[in-house]
This record gives sequence, C-alpha cells and structure tokens, in this order.
Amino acid sequence: MDNFSRFEAASASDILAWAIDTFGDSFAIATSFQKEGMVILDLASRISAGIRVFTLDTGRLPDETYRMMETVRQRYGIPVEVVFPERDDVEELVAFHGPNLFYSSVPARQRCCDVRKVRPLERKLETFKAWATGLRRDQSETRAAIPKVDSDPAGRMKICPLADWSADQVEEYIARHDVPVHPLYASGYTSIGCAPCTRAVQPGESERAGRWWWEQDAKKECGIHFAPDGSVARDIAPEAETKEMHKGFTVWFTGMSGAGKSTISRLLELKLRQFGARVEVLDGDVVRTHLSKGLGFSKEDRDENVRRIGFVCELLARNGVVAIAAAISPYRDVRDEVRARIPNFVEVFVECPVEVLAARDVKGLYRRALAGEIPQFTGVSDPYEPPRAPEVTVNTSRETPEESVEKIWATLERSGLLSFDRSPLAH
Ligand code: ADX
Repeated sequence: MDNFSRFEAASASDILAWAIDTFGDSFAIATSFQKEGMVILDLASRISAGIRVFTLDTGRLPDETYRMMETVRQRYGIPVEVVFPERDDVEELVAFHGPNLFYSSVPARQRCCDVRKVRPLERKLETFKAWATGLRRDQSETRAAIPKVDSDPAGRMKICPLADWSADQVEEYIARHDVPVHPLYASGYTSIGCAPCTRAVQPGESERAGRWWWEQDAKKECGIHFAPDGSVARDIAPEAETKEMHKGFTVWFTGMSGAGKSTISRLLELKLRQFGARVEVLDGDVVRTHLSKGLGFSKEDRDENVRRIGFVCELLARNGVVAIAAAISPYRDVRDEVRARIPNFVEVFVECPVEVLAARDVKGLYRRALAGEIPQFTGVSDPYEPPRAPEVTVNTSRETPEESVEKIWATLERSGLLSFDRSPLAH
C-alpha cells in the first residue's frame, strides 16, 4: 500500500495518464455514468482516444442509464463494453426468491447485488491489470479512507483518481467541460444504481440516502466492498440480518380458479415488502406441487390441502412473517376451522361471476370443465361456498388488481396490522 502513497499528491489527470501509459489496453474505466465516472471518462479521453470503458448492466437499470450509454458512444466515440450477469445465476435467484427479493431483507438485497453486480465485476476485472472508478472519500463513511491508487491481492491496480475531489469540484469540472450529465440528477437523484433500488433524495439527506432507501442500518454499498488493503471483498455480513420488524399475520385469499387470487396476492406481497415486511405467499397451484403433492380435488383432499396451508401460515405468522394464502379453499367449514386456529387472520373473498371466469379462462380449464372433461371443477361441477363475513371482498370483474390491493391494505391498516417499526413509507 505504501508503494502507492506517492500518487496521493498527483492530480487525477496525471494518474490517468500514468495508468493509460503503463497499462494500455489492460486498463479500463468502470462507470455507471454518474458524474464522477463521466469526469474520469472526459479526463481520460483528453489523454488518449483509445481508452476502454466498461459498465455493468444489472438488468434492472433505469432507462436513463441506457440513454447515457448512447450519449457516451456518440460524444466520445467510445464503444462502451457492457457486462451482464451470468444468466444461470439470475434465473436461479429470481426463481427462488422472486424478481424483487431486494425489498425483503438486507441479505436478500446483497445477494441480488452479488449476482447482478459483484460477480460480473469480478469476472470482467480478471481481464485487466488496472481499472479506474469514480469513488470519492466524502461520499460516505465507508469510502473515507480509499487510496488514489492501490493494488489487490491479485496485483491488479485499482485507481480512484477523484478520491480527494469534493462534490463541488466534480460539478465545476462538468460545467467547465460541458460533460454530459445523467438525466436522473435533474430529478433529485444524487447516486444512481438500479431502478427499483434507487430514488431521489430529500434536501439535507446524504448523497447515498437514495440507494436502498428502505434499509436503515445497512451500509449503503452493493457488497463490492473494498478492504483496507484495497482488495475487492464480498460484504454479506450475517449481522446485517434484519431485525424483527412487524407482527406476523395471515391474509387468506379464497375464490374460484382464475378469479385473481394469485395476481392480487403477488401485488400485495410486493407492497408489503416495500413496506419492510417479510412475506411468504402460499399459492394453491404451487403448494400442490410440493406440500400437497398427490392430493386431488375431493372435499377430503381439498380440506386437507387447506389445513396444510393453514398450518404453514400459522408457523410463519408466529415468527413475524406475513403469510399470504391463495387457494380456492371452497369449503366454508374448513376455512373457519383454520381461522379459529390462527390469530390475526384476514379473509379476503376474491369474487368474480363464473360467467366472467369462463369467458376469461386464462388456463383453459373452464372450457374443459364445461365440456365435462374435468370432474369436480369448482364453480362448474363442484361447489364453492362464499364466505359469510370475510374481512374484505374484492370483485375482480369490476376492480383492477391495484384497486383490490388498496382495499385490502385499508383493512390491514384499520386492523392495526401494519405497525412496522421500519417502513420506507414512514420516513
Ligand atoms: S383447493 O380447492 O384445494 O383450495 P387449490 O387452490 O389448491 O384448490 O388449487 C386449485 C387449482 O388447481 C386451480 O387454480 C386449477 O388450476 C387447478 N385445478 C385442477 N383441477 C381442479 C378442479 N377440479 N377444481 C378446481 N381447480 C382445479
């Protein structure tokens, strides 16, 4: 580390000139087109016409970032190298945890960053001897000690030419050289990452407050953590596990096949996660491939299915998780039996006339049932007993899924079930 202290007195431009001269094609600028990266790019382009620039496309970037890629290509004539995550990693991640897992907990969010950013960065860096990035010391506490030049254990140089620049200096440079600026700054963003995980900051908030804004205690880094020796390390700390933050409860969707139980429950799940809750959805279609595999559609089997789902909801809810069940659960007596066993049980009747369902027929089942090809099909050749006193009734032939979620949300609020300590909506 000490070997590089001589660079501390050097200017950003001198450091870049040295890197370009020393490493040539084995040197690249890593940028997400924020102001700092653009300053480095502008400085470097004045030194050499052939600089390499790469960016990580996580697959969840805001559209404005893609526009910046285009701007850079046009303005500087640089073919930006775009690095994607491994397809298998992303597919596995979202298959198991859903596309928006980052809202559920800090470790889940870090796992997403790991797959979409950290691993692709590591893979790309293997092809370079040196790389530059726009980190500045006054951006956050975690960045306060970054050196201008350092090497990782693999001997690769990591260069932060703007380490000692202030935000004002960056602004000044941009104005003086008419450097293109990411359009989201104009909307109040001060740090730009993935679209679902970044928002504008309020006046007085720290520069990185808009990143993963629903997290209160976590370090606002993507897990690309730089150890004091300058090495890149994963930073998925077990102590970052979220604290107990809300009381568990059960939202039980009942209604006929195709009525919209799954759609509404997934929307509700997302909203609850954004609110800071831990949520599990037990969807009839999914449950029947695991927990209730082998069960059929007789009254006995359906009741057994419903009891099993109820049992899991109870376990989850007593551990602070919001359990959402979405199963036809056509029989009133067993629904009431489950309700009697579980505290904080909210029954949502997803109503939709059978004619509308048959006309929609998303899965093609009504057509087959009406043709007599599926025996005991709920609403056609098997009973559906609507609840007598559900906490909420939504009617999907008249309401949009969003309107239904609003209704349910209002009931949850009224019942005092949404008293989270740590909701992004609360601050
Ligand atoms: S429940 O009655 O036991 O609560 P569940 O919600 O798990 O049912 O599963 C219903 C799903 O199974 C339907 O959405 C449909 O895709 C499929 N299905 C297959 N056969 C039937 C049937 N006879 N009646 C209703 N749904 C059926």
